[in-house]
Amino acid sequence: MTEMFDVIVIGAGPGGYVAAIKVAQLGLKTACIEKGALGGTCLNVGCIPSKALLQSSEFYYKIVKEATIHGIQVTASGIDFTAMMQRKEEIVRSFNLGIEALFKKNQVTKIEGTASFLSPHEIQVKQTSGEVKLSAKYFILATGSEPTPLPFLPFNEQNIVSSTGILSLKTVPKKLIVVGAGIIGVELGSVYQRLGSEVIFLEFLDRICPTLDQGVSLSLQKILEKQGLKFFLKAKVTKGENTSKGVSITAEIEGQEKIFDADVALIAIGRKAYTQGLKLENAGVELTQKGLIPIDGNFKTNKPHILAIGDIVDGPMLAHKAEEEGVAAAEILAGHEPSIEYMAIPNVVYTYPEVASVGLTEEEAKKRGIAIKVGQFPFKANSRARCMGESEGFIKILAEANSLQIVGVHILGPHAGELITEGVLAMTHKMKVKDLLVACHAHPTLSEAMKEAALMIDSKAIHM
Ligand code: NAI
Repeated sequence: MTEMFDVIVIGAGPGGYVAAIKVAQLGLKTACIEKGALGGTCLNVGCIPSKALLQSSEFYYKIVKEATIHGIQVTASGIDFTAMMQRKEEIVRSFNLGIEALFKKNQVTKIEGTASFLSPHEIQVKQTSGEVKLSAKYFILATGSEPTPLPFLPFNEQNIVSSTGILSLKTVPKKLIVVGAGIIGVELGSVYQRLGSEVIFLEFLDRICPTLDQGVSLSLQKILEKQGLKFFLKAKVTKGENTSKGVSITAEIEGQEKIFDADVALIAIGRKAYTQGLKLENAGVELTQKGLIPIDGNFKTNKPHILAIGDIVDGPMLAHKAEEEGVAAAEILAGHEPSIEYMAIPNVVYTYPEVASVGLTEEEAKKRGIAIKVGQFPFKANSRARCMGESEGFIKILAEANSLQIVGVHILGPHAGELITEGVLAMTHKMKVKDLLVACHAHPTLSEAMKEAALMIDSKAIHM
């Protein structure tokens, strides 16, 4: 007999598992189907393992390069790469179990296997033990995305790796080529550079992390170059080869062909929506030419009982965006009217120092014809940053020139990913510069740089 649910969520990444928990909390009979490990890309081969390695490698970098600044004499005898990787795996595993426990607590039925539609209301789940058929009144699709390979150099996850393979290398490569200096590239390139690899980036555009505010991206590049990362910009990668010694990549740079050899190449040129195997045609769900699922303002596909969220729909491919959409989709199915403030979704790059942003960049504001005032306060004039010995970078606030409503906040500096929350609140509640200024910021904290940047728009900074 076909088991019937109110809602079946397909995919247990941060979008899907959060949606399933929320749907169940709202009183609907819910199942969540996952073919891999609970937590999806973010937990298993994305945000969490990469942050574990970023933390370990930053710790090592600070011991080796910065301990003496604090008057501490240490001799680091090296790294135990296997132990570092094991720590990362244990963190991931503990969260896998955590989601499993949350499913039990909230009465979400977890079903392991690969789901595909048989008809608009019925799916088949392929499992190791056979096949089961399930049906539901509603479906939430949350199957995520996968790394894009270079067309002429498929991933083998040994020496030509995606963001997945680079997280499970057995040894630290002597030389690493990173194709694409976007967010994944600079984060994972930083990990291996700190652990001792020579890291070379080949980036197609004229700057790194092109979605960031230009001033931030140029400053980040300078800081990373000082740390030892090498960037070749305007590099058109034309050929790639798996050689006996590793990998060889050819790029055209300023009209000249250059060959780069390395032990490992990380290809980080973007991700694409993953809907493979779902057999959406059996449900009558349409895809765009780019392979995304078109939805209306309520996450409904062209089949209104099938909703889609996260990386398979338009918008930034970010775990927290998927989570927000998962909660909102669940609430819609329970008859509520949630809304997401898309302009207030933050973006964090976990380099050292971190980068975080929300809202418009200076270039986007200009493109939209919005006149802006800019306040930019450097961390070198912030007492807490100086005490920490981490005073590179700045906080930059953009405000609409007449109303002084905050339209963008960009941070390059220590704990930027935590500090950005003040900017997110400002953007969510359409706050003006004055609203930041009336709030008392504790001293000495990094957050004082936010108030000073706001002061630079309103009148004058005190400490500059
Ligand atoms: P990305 O879009 O951030 O960067 C890709 C880079 O590759 C761009 O700079 C692009 O110009 C370059 N590129 C594209 N084709 C190229 C070629 N043939 N040769 C050389 N360069 C080329 O994509 P990325 O870094 O792969 O990340 C994918 C998604 O995952 C992004 O949406 C990102 O926001 C998200 N993500 C977010 C993280 C975070 O929030 N910390 C961490 C990791 C990923």
